[in-house]
Amino acid sequence: METKIISCTGEKGGCGKTTLNIILATNLFHLYGKKVVLMDMDNPQYSVYKKRKRDLAQIGKMETDAFPVERATIHTLEPLIKKYYGIVDFIIIDFPGNLNEEMVRGLLYVEHIFIPFFLDELEIDSTAVFYKTLRKNFLDNDNRVLRSVNLFFNRYELVKVNKFNAVRKTLARAGMPMMRQVVMERTIYREKYRNTLVPIPLSKENGEQGLKRFMEEVLEISKN
Ligand SMILES: Nc1ncnc2c1ncn2[C@@H]1O[C@H](COP(=O)(O)OP(=O)(O)OP(=O)(O)O)[C@@H](O)[C@H]1O
Ligand SMILES: [Mg+2]
Repeated sequence: METKIISCTGEKGGCGKTTLNIILATNLFHLYGKKVVLMDMDNPQYSVYKKRKRDLAQIGKMETDAFPVERATIHTLEPLIKKYYGIVDFIIIDFPGNLNEEMVRGLLYVEHIFIPFFLDELEIDSTAVFYKTLRKNFLDNDNRVLRSVNLFFNRYELVKVNKFNAVRKTLARAGMPMMRQVVMERTIYREKYRNTLVPIPLSKENGEQGLKRFMEEVLEISKN
């Protein structure tokens, strides 16, 4: 089995990395039938790992089909990747909000990076710096593992479509690769529905504005 290592990550705190990594994992596993493992490197917070425990407690003793969630540190990441490489379709890694120097080493394993981007002037600069650092250190490297870096709007709001379009143009001019699809600002992506055991019910999604197109773009990018 060909394994892809992907991550929603970035150098900004609170932009939706963990939310999107959980959403990616549950959707790839339940809706697309992919074999998935989610690795939580957010030591000592371990919010994904704890979330899985809460989700299991909520569901009670009922048997449930679930993808594994593993806690990892920079020292255990490599053996964990080796454990799953070749037997899952996707290894998804959740990094901490602050990508310190040690943690950046974890990025060496990632093949496709997805950077959530929220509408904020200050973010443009910091994300541009982060993107250029990735490019210089990982993408423009002959022995590279990293195949793509993709920015996307998270918490997208239709009422701010003009602002988002203006930012999209600015980012494109700066040479940063923006995804076509966006993730909407929606309460269903918050704690209540964000779950490591069950995907968001399709009935809760707003049709065309739901996650489907975003998921499909992620799958298309990850093929490379
Ligand atoms: N598309 C969305 N719609 C609504 N709420 C969202 C969305 N994306 C993220 N959030 C909310 O934003 C908050 C921060 O999200 P999250 O914890 O996923 O960010 P993070 O980047 O992992 O943060 P940290 O840097 O602390 O690890 C959470 O309360 C989450 O529910
Ligand atoms: Mg997080």
